[in-house]
Order: sequence, then C-alpha cells, then structure tokens
Amino acid sequence: MRVIAPDAQNPLSGLGQWDDAVRERYVANRKKEEFRQHTDEAPSVVREFYRLNHTNQTVDFVRAKKREYGPLQKRRMSVWEAMDYLNTLVDDSDPDTDLSQIQHLMQTAEAARRDGRPRWFIVSGLVHDLGKILCLFGEPQWAVVGDTFPVGCAWSETIVYPKFFAANPDSNIPEYQTRNGIYTEGCGLNSVDLSWGHDEYIYHVCKPYLPEEGLYMLRYHSFYPCHQEGAYQHLMDARDREMFYWVREFNNYDLYSKGESKPDVEALRPYYENLIAEFFPPQLSW
Ligand SMILES: [Fe+2]
Ligand SMILES: [Fe+2]
Repeated sequence: MRVIAPDAQNPLSGLGQWDDAVRERYVANRKKEEFRQHTDEAPSVVREFYRLNHTNQTVDFVRAKKREYGPLQKRRMSVWEAMDYLNTLVDDSDPDTDLSQIQHLMQTAEAARRDGRPRWFIVSGLVHDLGKILCLFGEPQWAVVGDTFPVGCAWSETIVYPKFFAANPDSNIPEYQTRNGIYTEGCGLNSVDLSWGHDEYIYHVCKPYLPEEGLYMLRYHSFYPCHQEGAYQHLMDARDREMFYWVREFNNYDLYSKGESKPDVEALRPYYENLIAEFFPPQLSW
C-alpha cells in the first residue's frame, strides 16, 4: 500500500478527491449558478489542486511529458498487473467508504456490462483509469488527474477555476492567447495538445489494441470543458464530433458508477481475465 501523504505538490488526500469534485459538479449540481456557488465552497485542498494544475500545465510541460512517456519504456506489465499496481495507491481518506482503484474500474465496467454494451466498451471501462499509475512514477497529482484542456490557445472560461490561469507562464505568450493559438480552425483534436494526465497516457498504452471509439473514450474522458461544456468545438474535426458521442456515453458510467455496492473483485476476475485476453497481449509496454 502506498498512501501519498498530502504535501505542497499533492494537496489532495488522494486522486479520488478530484473524481469526487467532478462528480459533485456534474451529478449533484447541474445548474450553472449552483455550479459557481459549489466551486467557491469546494474544500481548499481541491482549489489548491486546481491552482497547481492551471499554473503548471504549459505547452512546454505537456511536450516534455509526451517525450518522456510517449515511447512507453517505463515498464512491461500485463493489464492485471497494472491494475494491481494502481491498487497499491491508496487514498488518505476513509478506506471503508471509498472504492479502491480496482473497484472503481470494475464498477465502471460492470455498469456498462449490465447495460449490454459491446465488449470493447466494457474493456475500455476496465482500463480507463490505469494511466493513474503516473502517480507511482512520481508525477504530482496535478500532472495525473484534473479536467483536461488544450494548451497553446486561449483557455475557455468554462474550465473550472479559470482565474488560476493568470499565474500560468503561457499567459505571457500572445501567440498562445488567441482563439486558435498554435492550431488551425477545425484541425482535429489529434493535432491539439491537451494538459498532461492519465487520459493521454492510457491512450498511448492501449492504442494498438482497442477500437477507435474506445480510444476516444480513454483519451478524452477528463476533457470536461469539451464533452460537458461544449467548448473547443472550433478545434474539432468531423471525426471528433462523431466519436465524442462515445466519450459522452462513457462519461455516464465513469460519473455514476460510484455509490453502488462494491464489486467482488475476486469473483469477477475470471470474466475480466477472459475479456482482457480477447483484446490485449499478455504483456504491454507502459
Ligand atoms: Fe479518469
Ligand atoms: Fe474513472
């Protein structure tokens, strides 16, 4: 077990605290005015987390992380080993009420399975948060989780806590502060760098193995400004718009899966080992 005790770079009691903040924003409080009110009342550690995230996610930072992790030369692990590895990360909050990392993954996959979703959808749900192992490679919370957003162009006002971008060094680069920034209108999200985190990382790990719809779900599941707020449409192409149907479908399972009964990981294991073997080789590059 590895509890990452809160410190200056890791203000949250665990990664689950960001998931809870998103869930409260989009599930408990759907109305705009309430959303604003809620963000002001959010625990100070959540605000501090977003302050660090918005201050440090720059074009240079994102490109450096893509160079570091893109070659996938950190480890060789099976999907199940990665799940066990991620599960060593324990939130520093109430372990009796909080789901473990594996339980969240399985609950997401099980909800999709109950709804009769295709097998690629279920397996995508199972692996969607495995990129959070970035924390175990020493990345701070603000470089692992958080609502993602494009870097290198103007920040949308729909991003939670937009005021914190004032301290981001990219705010001083005029080229990065226009609507399209370093991109061109309708260029497609594949050409756009989003803030670095667990979405982009798991996308690269799974790229050879999952269908395009599943890869979109993995890569953009934290891109709330786009899939929930409708921002950045001008950077999307026709393919993105088509595929975001799946990103939004998936978001329901990610957000609403918490709070149900805890899945019995060992009982479900044979089904999921089978499902994993259908899509993935025994070892993957991470
Ligand atoms: Fe996630
Ligand atoms: Fe998740």
